[in-house]
Amino acid sequence: MEPKEKIILTGDRPTGKLHIGHYVGSLRRRVELQNSGLYDKIFIFEADAQALTDNIENPEKVRQNVIEVALDYLAAGLDPAKSTLFIQSQIPELCELSFYFMDMVSVSRLQRNPTVKTEVQMRGFSGESIPVGFFTYPISQAADITMFKATTVPAGEDQEPMLEQCREIVRKFNNIYGDTLVEPNILLPENAACLRLPGTDGKAKMSKSLGNCIYLSDSADEVNKKVKGMYTDPTHLQVSDPGHLEGNTVFTYLDAFATDEMVAAMTTDYQTLQEMKDHYTRGGLGDMKCKKLLMSVLQETLEPIRQRRAEFEKDIPQVYEILRKGCEVARETACQTMDEVRRAMKINYFQDQALIEEQSRRFASK
Ligand code: TRP
Repeated sequence: MEPKEKIILTGDRPTGKLHIGHYVGSLRRRVELQNSGLYDKIFIFEADAQALTDNIENPEKVRQNVIEVALDYLAAGLDPAKSTLFIQSQIPELCELSFYFMDMVSVSRLQRNPTVKTEVQMRGFSGESIPVGFFTYPISQAADITMFKATTVPAGEDQEPMLEQCREIVRKFNNIYGDTLVEPNILLPENAACLRLPGTDGKAKMSKSLGNCIYLSDSADEVNKKVKGMYTDPTHLQVSDPGHLEGNTVFTYLDAFATDEMVAAMTTDYQTLQEMKDHYTRGGLGDMKCKKLLMSVLQETLEPIRQRRAEFEKDIPQVYEILRKGCEVARETACQTMDEVRRAMKINYFQDQALIEEQSRRFASK
């Protein structure tokens, strides 16, 4: 279907507080998109039901993190007056749509989904012990996206296979039932550093279990301590040694966070980040100087977020109220889409006056 409106939808599983990888990978962009005024509607949601697909024995974890993530959203600058913030489990229509989508996807197609494959391995599920709900979450995610007729899904590259599968479902649905749903596009982060921010230890990904995260809610002291301990270039032993940027986490973070204006304002020797990189690779620039700059850069970015978080933390009932209202708004859209879906699928018996009349005539002429 040709979309009439530009609609953003995206979300996170509330399994932990959000870290700076989430921030550069998606959150910062969402706030920019929200404030750009280019979109007709913006839906940001907490995928708590999806989080439960592999946390079914640990509902408390999800419940605790729903409020943490909401605070992170608000602290980062998502504004409930501009974006609808809601919780997946409170929209029962999502289950309904998933139920019909399940008839349009084969087991082998799900098995081929690269994200599912890696996640199955990561969680150590073997063969047929995978929970059905976990295995089929790409289908439920397609429902999340299409329910709101999203045209644009800002997300990390790991979500690309989900979007691909979603588009397949949309095409299949529209082919069978006529133009109803909208094919979404993914909107990836601008630069490579933001695509997947490594952990402070240099490992490929920030993750709570590896203990290599910098959280949006960390204090300035915690951030500085973590930066001091960061992985750099193991071959850069003396200040005079030439340093390497490749795989050097401090520079990856600078790429993700530092603008040239920040570099010029916060150092005495460089106008741009490139000048500093050149000095580092030539030799003669120590790691600690680079880390000091990173501390200032992170401090400048995170301090306003921290302050907003502290404000919202003072009134937690209000934060739940923001989410409750968001759910109400999201549900209106969901009910509208489900009406259209039921009509297209010809399961809207009681709204279909023509059906009732047709059946009356058929039985009358018997
Ligand atoms: N799978 C996403 C994640 O793990 C969360 C998510 C669920 C999502 N439904 C979505 C993201 C729909 C974008 C669109 O972070």
